[in-house]
Amino acid sequence: MSERARILVADDEPNLRRVLTAILRRDGHDVTVAVDGSEALEKLGAGDIDVVITDLRMPKLDGMDVLRHAARHTPHIPVIMITAYGSVGQAVEAIKAGAFDYIEKPFEQDQIRVVVGKAVRHAIANSAQPRATLYPSGDDSVRGRFGLVGDSNEMQAVFEIIDKVADTPSTVLITGESGTGKELVAKALHENSSRKGGPFIKINCAAIPKTLMESELFGYEKGAFTGATSSKPGRFELADGGTLFLDEIGEIPVEMQVKLLRAIQESEFERVGGIKTLKVDVRLITATNRDLEAEIKSGNFREDLFYRLNVVPLTIPPLRRRRGDIPLLVRHIIRKFNERLKKNVASIADDALAALEAHNWPGNIRELENVLERTILFCKGDVIQRVDLPDEIAAHGTPAGAAPIDDDDDDTAVEPVAAELSGDASLKDIVRAETSRVEREVIAKALDETNGNVTQAARLLKISRKSLQMKMKELGLRDREAGT
Ligand SMILES: Nc1ncnc2c1ncn2[C@@H]1O[C@H](COP(=O)(O)OP(=O)(O)OP(=O)(O)O)[C@@H](O)[C@H]1O
Ligand SMILES: [Mg+2]
Repeated sequence: MSERARILVADDEPNLRRVLTAILRRDGHDVTVAVDGSEALEKLGAGDIDVVITDLRMPKLDGMDVLRHAARHTPHIPVIMITAYGSVGQAVEAIKAGAFDYIEKPFEQDQIRVVVGKAVRHAIANSAQPRATLYPSGDDSVRGRFGLVGDSNEMQAVFEIIDKVADTPSTVLITGESGTGKELVAKALHENSSRKGGPFIKINCAAIPKTLMESELFGYEKGAFTGATSSKPGRFELADGGTLFLDEIGEIPVEMQVKLLRAIQESEFERVGGIKTLKVDVRLITATNRDLEAEIKSGNFREDLFYRLNVVPLTIPPLRRRRGDIPLLVRHIIRKFNERLKKNVASIADDALAALEAHNWPGNIRELENVLERTILFCKGDVIQRVDLPDEIAAHGTPAGAAPIDDDDDDTAVEPVAAELSGDASLKDIVRAETSRVEREVIAKALDETNGNVTQAARLLKISRKSLQMKMKELGLRDREAGT
């Protein structure tokens, strides 16, 4: 077997892992291991896997869970199931659920080689066509809870907190970058509490002028100030029996913080210009994209108020920390905008999805929504292609650092590595991008020297023609011989 592939081996038995890894590595494959089903899904979600071999019986999630997940999210990746000797029923069940093949324990080395070889060829043949993920309208496989899409570990942790604290009176401080879903979480907390029949009142502290903040929060009496021609209840009063959501709490002026603190501590306050003390029953939820502890240090936020607000801290991780949720979100958002824009986008090409997964999303889900809305609006066919995406995102599909040598009619500059890997690039990302860049340079040079003759270039590079073609495809280099 000459084709190299990236193979994920999921098995809880160290010995089997070791044996499988040794056999596969000897054949030149890259092997990644997972010790249980949930780790397997994590590694699968991280991408870069061509073939999965999974044991059926594993702790946490078993082989069937891995298979079902893969069948849904990465249907192009063949999954080989390892079953116990004589358990034909399980093998049949696995095949029915979409397994590529199965291997019974104990197995011979050659058995593994044959099945893996078939799977690798299958994976390569499949990846020759840009594949598209279909979104049949009746399919509601978008997963998540509380109206929040996502099934990454990060989001599971958020769901767990919502579960635990929704129906309590505790004050929750939601933190997260802009567009991560803070408001959705606040609503979920309200909707899943016994207050859900009561009002959900929101106030955006950043949008209210300093001078009006107090009367907005606590209301005012007639004649309290010029223009107060009648009295008006504030948000605290309006939220009585329900939930008050103070968004962008980091923007609230320091003078107001004292008054807010008292209202929270005593559950009572006065309207501006009023003498009567009002008591309300309000559950308070606040949110911010600021680092309040830093604001405390710089004197912009009162520490005592912070402790009052931060009884239950709930941090929503940025989208780039849970890229595995991107396909789900894309599916969800496409549906949403199909409806809203009266469009009929059915799917997204896999390379387009990969480009979306590679983007850093500083504006998180809101940015993803904006990008998809624009894309759906202008999308010509019913499948979103990589070219339909904004240039800066589509560029993630092309390796950085070198201009595409084939695109004679396209002179848009490709971002340099450093720019593409802004922010949170991990060492792995950097190495991967850098490796691609070097590979691309070397291959381009070889092709140049051989006037685009892939066979000769492969000889120069001392790799098989087939491997070179695969590499070229991966790097987005045009194969003139194949005319692609
Ligand atoms: N997990 C999710 N699933 C589906 N949609 C989401 C999710 N998270 C956020 N959204 C959508 O993304 C957009 C931004 O979410 P939201 O307004 O709650 O974020 P935010 O953190 O309050 O943002 P900002 O800091 O900009 O106010 C909304 O349209 C929301 O519906
Ligand atoms: Mg918000």
